[in-house]
Amino acid sequence: MKTLVITAHPNMSKSKVNKAWTNRLQQEENVTVHDLYSLYPTFEIDAEKEQQQLLEYDRIVFQFPFYWYSSPALLKQWQDSVLTYGFAYGSEGTRLHGKEFMLAISSGGPAEAYQAGGYNHYSISELTKPFQATANLCGMHFLPSFLLQGMMTLTEEKLQESADALAAYVTNSELRRKR
Ligand SMILES: Cc1cc2nc3c(=O)[nH]c(=O)nc-3n(C[C@H](O)[C@H](O)[C@H](O)COP(=O)(O)O)c2cc1C
Repeated sequence: MKTLVITAHPNMSKSKVNKAWTNRLQQEENVTVHDLYSLYPTFEIDAEKEQQQLLEYDRIVFQFPFYWYSSPALLKQWQDSVLTYGFAYGSEGTRLHGKEFMLAISSGGPAEAYQAGGYNHYSISELTKPFQATANLCGMHFLPSFLLQGMMTLTEEKLQESADALAAYVTNSELRRKR
């Protein structure tokens, strides 16, 4: 199983979590890390090249820091440019059908904030519905998201544990059968 991790962080050199995650994922043999802000700093995405690359992978991961309850802007731009009619959706847009899709998200707010009664009111699962709907329209199987939440209480040990857990998660080929 080949996994493509598409990551979007506007300031990866200052990142703690997403940098540690990508560094760890790069050690995995069947994982390719694709860093959008380093490839497309001017937001001019080579859609055709991106589409061709997607075809080579079984599992697609979007990895990003939660920004205003969604992804950083370049990842949205990537979706708008790459997931085109006739490629990703529409009667003949079946090229992504059957692939697996998942999110790996870091959030500043802690897990308990993301629930009814918490200060962010909504769960990550609710807030990421547009990604799930996108996966559905493209015929991809949406897998449970991988999360690291609460930057105030993050220790170096927790960060390394999370990076190892993410590497194990994205390379686990059994996720679909277990659901
Ligand atoms: C522009 C901006 C928007 C943010 N929006 C949110 C948000 O909506 N919810 C949240 O929990 N954290 C938010 N944060 C905090 C980031 O999610 C957090 O700093 C990041 O996930 C940490 O990962 P990193 O070390 O890779 O940067 C925001 C941060 C920035 C700079």
